Order: sequence, then structure tokens, then C-alpha cells
Amino acid sequence: MPDEPAQEPRAPKGGPPGSDWAAFYRSTIGREPRPLFTKGMAAVEAAGVAPGQAIEIGFGDGRETLALLEAGWRVLAIDPAPAAAEVLQSQVPAQVAGRLEIRSVRAEDANLLPFDLLYAGYSLPFLGAAAFGRFWNAARHGLRPGGILVVNFFGPRDSWAGREGMRFIDVDAVRRLFDGLDVLALDEEDQDGDSFLGPKHWHVFDVIARRPPGSTG
Ligand SMILES: C[S@@+](CC[C@H](N)C(=O)[O-])C[C@H]1O[C@@H](n2cnc3c(N)ncnc32)[C@H](O)[C@@H]1O
Repeated sequence: MPDEPAQEPRAPKGGPPGSDWAAFYRSTIGREPRPLFTKGMAAVEAAGVAPGQAIEIGFGDGRETLALLEAGWRVLAIDPAPAAAEVLQSQVPAQVAGRLEIRSVRAEDANLLPFDLLYAGYSLPFLGAAAFGRFWNAARHGLRPGGILVVNFFGPRDSWAGREGMRFIDVDAVRRLFDGLDVLALDEEDQDGDSFLGPKHWHVFDVIARRPPGSTG
């Protein structure tokens, strides 16, 4: 991963459908926030976006939701795995709990609130094409002017490409998703690495994009 700082022990990044998510969370809990999240938060700060309503999709062990709460955001945290809600709930400090709403539903079925920031790290590839389309329409609709999307997608050279229920898209398809938005960063990882299930080739597009302030429609 181009600008990923070394993490010791390196936190595994993902498991394919059918994964035992509870076991995955046990293996990642205590990790640092993902590099994409850190970069996204720097972009949020540079753009002068004040903490408002954030949404996290596929929050897993909850590390990034906890960081958002700590930074003063209200967070709608969405992940269909009941184990994710349990792991996150057990870590939320009482003084910020009032700014957190957890929903154990699939992103494509969630009724998204209007939001200023959406973070989805290593979760959107787990939505199949139709589900992703439904979710993305809702996300584009809910994104407020000036708001920021921090998301990643798996590319066609990923080891898991072709797995049922997952979605892999090339860079042109990635770019099309952000039509009308300002793409602040689009980074590609295309290299061998580790995963929860052992060595794999990662082909990942990390995107940070902003809806122009003052835009309508
Ligand atoms: C590889 S984990 C990533 C977790 C965390 N974001 C991280 O970086 O460690 C993928 C997460 O996406 C969630 N997920 C799978 N399908 C989903 C869907 N349809 N909507 C929202 N989240 C989903 C899983 O439950 C899992 O927690």
C-alpha cells in the first residue's frame, strides 16, 4: 500500500463473504485507524469541514467510529453483523455515547440521514452490484454540499475478484461514481500483501471526494 505506515502487528484488512466476522474483529481490535481514514480526516480538516453528522459503513471493530466520536462528530454506524455492534458498544465511552447511533442493517437497506462525512473502509466491496447501486444513490443524495466521501473499492486484479456477492471495479468505473464531485485523492494499491485469510493480492482504490460547497441537485 503506497503510503501505509507500518503497523505492528499488521492489522488484517478483510475477509471474503462467509467470513466469521466476529473472529475477524477479534483479530483487528486494538489496531490503528486505517491509513485511508487518517488521510480522509486530514482532508476534512484541510477543507475546513467542521464535525457534524458522519456515517460509517461496515464499521467492523469500530476503530474509526470511535475516532470520529473522539473528534466531536455525531456518528451513524452501520454494519449488519451483530458482533460488530457488540464489539463497538463495549468500547464507547459514556460521555460520547449520546452522539452515536448503531444500526445492525445492511448499507443498502439503511435509511441514510443527510451527512457531512461518510467513511467506508473495506466494506463496499461486500455489496453486490444491485445492492451497491441502491446504496450509492442514497449516499449521493444524502451528501450535503461541502461534505466528504472517504471510501474504497476492490479492483479487477484483486485475488478475490469474481467471488459471488462481491463487487470489483476498474478505475474508470470508480471515476464515474464521483461525477459532479471534486476528487481530492484517488490512490491505487496493486500489490501482494496479507489478509485475515492469508496472503493475497490487494487491488484497491482509495478515494476521497467532496461535494462542492454551494452545489445544488
Ligand atoms: C473487511 S470488514 C472491514 C471492517 C472495518 N471497516 C475495518 O477496516 O476493519 C467488512 C465489514 O463490512 C461489513 N459488511 C458486509 N456487508 C455489508 C453490507 N451489505 N452493508 C454494510 N456493511 C457490510 C461486514 O460486516 C464487516 O464488518
